[in-house]
Amino acid sequence: MNIDNKHVVITGASSGIGAALAREFHRAGACVTLVARREPLLAALTDELGKGSRYLVRDVTAGDPEEWLGDAESSGPIDVFVNNAGINEPGPFAFLDPRVGKRTIEVDLLAPLALAGVVVPRMLARRAGVLVNVSSVAALVPPAGMTWYAAAKGGLAGFSECLAAELTGTGVEVLTVYPGPIDNGAPQATYDLYGRASVAARLPVGKAAALAKQIRLAVLRRRRRLIYPRFYAPARWLPSLVRWLVDRGTPGLPALPGVRTTRSLIASRKEG
Ligand SMILES: NC(=O)c1ccc[n+]([C@@H]2O[C@H](COP(=O)([O-])OP(=O)(O)OC[C@H]3O[C@@H](n4cnc5c(N)ncnc54)[C@H](OP(=O)(O)O)[C@@H]3O)[C@@H](O)[C@H]2O)c1
Repeated sequence: MNIDNKHVVITGASSGIGAALAREFHRAGACVTLVARREPLLAALTDELGKGSRYLVRDVTAGDPEEWLGDAESSGPIDVFVNNAGINEPGPFAFLDPRVGKRTIEVDLLAPLALAGVVVPRMLARRAGVLVNVSSVAALVPPAGMTWYAAAKGGLAGFSECLAAELTGTGVEVLTVYPGPIDNGAPQATYDLYGRASVAARLPVGKAAALAKQIRLAVLRRRRRLIYPRFYAPARWLPSLVRWLVDRGTPGLPALPGVRTTRSLIASRKEG
């Protein structure tokens, strides 16, 4: 798909990967609509991008998607829709507030499906369009400490791959993106979870701008899936071997000072 003058709508575009996607698609000639909750960040980014960019302040889990996607379409039909908004609250499942977990399912799984439910029929009516779903390598090899997140991203990946197969030959494409750790905060989160000396903390970390470029090229080439950094591709092609390695690299969550991990919490409860 040629991106020039196409209308690209990106959820979660106020920071991180979403902001990098906005810059990447805009630089390539697309008109971008940025969606997120933090208006000052969205306003600053559209100021930076200038003509051909606008924003909508929306919570992807709130309101009627039919209505606010209608607002998004006021500047033209949506050619590319990127389900990127997401949250991740890692920690030991047994002690995580289930309300936080359920929120992860709402933002990372239910909202993207609801939005796809509005966008895809409109694309089908035009027999053209690309839906991009940003899942995670955690969907392929769920790591310790990310139970709710892996459940949400695994669900999103399953949905996305299924829909891609279903829409074959319709003119509407679905791209499933599996990012590994990306440089906006991911390394620190990994240290907090597994410890600085763990294998997990030494794994390659990608860059948001490089991922955004890969996503644009994958849309252009009508690819169905993208794993970035490439280091993580074996998670798809050799899942049993990678699962075995991950089990050995992160056997559980270490007890770190000040971090509420499964082991430290179980220990403190026993002592209490
Ligand atoms: N960073 C990584 O290592 C990594 C790895 C694999 C997958 N991913 C996935 O990549 C996507 C982007 O993550 P990121 O690393 O760029 O994180 P980020 O910098 O925290 O960005 C998340 C974006 O989602 C938006 N968002 C969160 N909740 C929202 C809601 N209810 N409604 C609307 N927007 C919402 C945030 O905007 P507001 O707060 O302004 O609403 C923000 O723009 C996520 O789906 C994430 O799971 C990230």
